[in-house]
Amino acid sequence: MGERFRFKMDPKFIEYYDRRIQQVFLYLIDECQLNCVQCLYKLENNFNIGRNCIEVDQALYLIEDFYELGARKLTLMGGEPTLYGLSSGRIPLFRLIDKAKDLGYEYVRIDTNGQFERSLLSEPAMRRLDEITFSLDGPSAEINDMLRGKGSFDKAVDNIRRAVDAGYNVDVTCCIHRQLIKRDGNNRMHIEEMVYFVHSLGIMRLNFHDLFKGGIPRDYWTGDLDISVDEWFHVWAELQAKIEKGAFPIPIRIPQSFVSEEEFQENPEYFGYCSVKTADRALVHPNGIIRACSLMIGTPYGIASYFGDSIAWNYGYTNESLEHVFDKCTACTNQAKNRSYGSFLPLCVSFKPRQNEFVWNLKLRWEKRGIE
Ligand SMILES: C[S@@+](CC[C@H](N)C(=O)[O-])C[C@H]1O[C@@H](n2cnc3c(N)ncnc32)[C@H](O)[C@@H]1O
Repeated sequence: MGERFRFKMDPKFIEYYDRRIQQVFLYLIDECQLNCVQCLYKLENNFNIGRNCIEVDQALYLIEDFYELGARKLTLMGGEPTLYGLSSGRIPLFRLIDKAKDLGYEYVRIDTNGQFERSLLSEPAMRRLDEITFSLDGPSAEINDMLRGKGSFDKAVDNIRRAVDAGYNVDVTCCIHRQLIKRDGNNRMHIEEMVYFVHSLGIMRLNFHDLFKGGIPRDYWTGDLDISVDEWFHVWAELQAKIEKGAFPIPIRIPQSFVSEEEFQENPEYFGYCSVKTADRALVHPNGIIRACSLMIGTPYGIASYFGDSIAWNYGYTNESLEHVFDKCTACTNQAKNRSYGSFLPLCVSFKPRQNEFVWNLKLRWEKRGIE
């Protein structure tokens, strides 16, 4: 009988992920043409010893093995994934997309800064993507380029329009930063303007990332465009109220980020969602680190590592799960470690339930147990 996996895997790694993993984030390449102020990937992008991308044969085996473990959604990331294999005509990138779809991945997406040349959108492999996600950090060049660099807005918007016209399923992701919570003459936050701008491009969904200092590693290299936790409470409440009233023309995915202690206790299994505890995702990096929590990007912490044809469990002090209490529903372990938020508890940054998202729609086990 053949081996189940391409990699030689530590049984502890198999035990952790088997039939639990839903999605893989493949950080194909650390390199990026932009140098965004807020970038949580800065350390990998600007400095690495050894290689800065995943070798294509290794990447192909990795997606095969994660599929065998149960993953059905794949995100191609970086750095900038459209730079992957650029010197060989991006053949490695196309092979990966084709392989993922041929294996049976139900949702394959690429997360890009949109700075690529137009012809990329005509490539047959690109056409097989289930989604292209463009990152834009504002509704105008003035706001976006403050973070993403001069000229990046025009280039990305041009490619967004072309992708929409070509029939791609296009999404936009935006970081909520200081400029976006400023208000215009009608007392409307720029963040709301962003919603209408994205809608005007023909895009049907907008995904927000929060950007505040949460006592976590990325605080130290993400610049000073973050908003304060207090500001976040107001922004979230105002936006959430509008979302619930159906005030926006498109669905918006926004992390809840905090909950009061009382509310948490009413449904700890729901609010206690933690990707380290559920093992529903793997973040795979060129330096060999495999992580479960995106807040550990840029640190030595991870759950396991791959090298050559082996995947080893991390038995050392840098295992990111060490402080996690697996049999108890808690606030976000990493964000609660070094600071307190008064009577509020920090939630997983990926906690965006009851929203139209592929993996959430597959019903993660935590959501089945929680309120609908
Ligand atoms: C690191 S980028 C890599 C992919 C691609 N180069 C891009 O620009 O989309 C992936 C996503 O992370 C977001 N991001 C960057 N820094 C962040 C931070 N400090 N907190 C939350 N999200 C962040 C980006 O805006 C982008 O949507």
